[in-house]
Amino acid sequence: MKTAKILKHPLIEHKLGIIRNKETKTKEFRETVSEIAGLLTYEITRELKLKEKEIETPVSKCISYELKDEVVIVPILRAGLGMVEGIQNLIPSAKVGHIGLYRDEETLEAKEYYAKFPVGMKDSTVLLIDPMLATGNSTVKAIDILKNKGAKNIIFVGLVGSPEGVERLQGAHPDVQIYLAALDEKLNEHGYIVPGLGDAGDRLFGTK
Ligand code: URA
Repeated sequence: MKTAKILKHPLIEHKLGIIRNKETKTKEFRETVSEIAGLLTYEITRELKLKEKEIETPVSKCISYELKDEVVIVPILRAGLGMVEGIQNLIPSAKVGHIGLYRDEETLEAKEYYAKFPVGMKDSTVLLIDPMLATGNSTVKAIDILKNKGAKNIIFVGLVGSPEGVERLQGAHPDVQIYLAALDEKLNEHGYIVPGLGDAGDRLFGTK
């Protein structure tokens, strides 16, 4: 099993304070989520493999590098959408798939209502993104879907996680590396992360 990595950085801590604050309005919330996603991406992509490419500078030939594998960003709808742009800014060649899930009110299970991916998932590095890793149910389901599509190298990227969500995800998919900006105290009886930041989707899109 891979240990969850909590990426501590002064800028990330500062920006987490902004999105946790209930006084922060939609525009600043959205921009800051995107910025944190970019900062996380910088750290996470340290492990990506490179391939050599010969190019010519204005002076001479030289060996340069480019990413070896395709990167596919997969937001879980809808809150995951808030992290896409921040990641794409750093990896403009990345393709974007989407997963939409709803909760079956009888069984409480996460069910798929939408899934669309680029070709070549098998050989791509897949960044599955969702700001909140709460119960872990939707993340586990999303990874089931990705694995069914052949994805082998899946990395989960979230902003705030709960111990319950991390444990559930590690139990179901021990091969998936988890990256978070913060691991909070617990889930409350309504399934919200404490202290968390409230409903990430509502705060990103100005809904209630
Ligand atoms: N989803 C959210 O948006 N916030 C939580 O605290 C838990 C799940």
